[in-house]
Amino acid sequence: MKISFTINGIKRECNVNSTTRLLDLIRDDLNLTGTKEGCGKGECGACTVIMNDKIVASCLVLAYEADGAEIVTIEGLSDKNILHPIQEAYIETGAVQCGFCTPGFILATKKLLDENPNPTEEEIKIGLSGNICRCTGYQKIIDAVKLSATKIAEYKRGEKVETK
Ligand code: FES
Ligand code: FES
Repeated sequence: MKISFTINGIKRECNVNSTTRLLDLIRDDLNLTGTKEGCGKGECGACTVIMNDKIVASCLVLAYEADGAEIVTIEGLSDKNILHPIQEAYIETGAVQCGFCTPGFILATKKLLDENPNPTEEEIKIGLSGNICRCTGYQKIIDAVKLSATKIAEYKRGEKVETK
């Protein structure tokens, strides 16, 4: 079947079959390989994308369910070669080690901070509870979320250039 959707601000049309997962559509058909496959069972968050303003595990969504949807993947966050402040924060705090979990964590962070620009540590832990990291021990990721909140507030106050 043919579906149409918007991904990272670009309208796309694709032919999918009834069993194609959104994850496969994103990685294989659209070549947006920043979205990772870890468990394939909805448990690790490596395949996280934002669909219709909600965090989803793209391994659990069928591609046809994305018909008419607005999707953001990790590739949609940076502005050409300019990193999003959340991406900067993850790098600066050392929250990226092997990096396999990072796209999912960054999108979960974006969603959390869109809804709650100044979360407590407890709220950060709850907001990122759908994502697993096997390298960092999580403290650096929590630090990255706090630094992200600071950076986004600076951008909003106009202390840095405009961002998404
Ligand atoms: S690959 Fe989708 S949640 Fe793990
Ligand atoms: S940085 Fe390796 S799994 Fe998180």
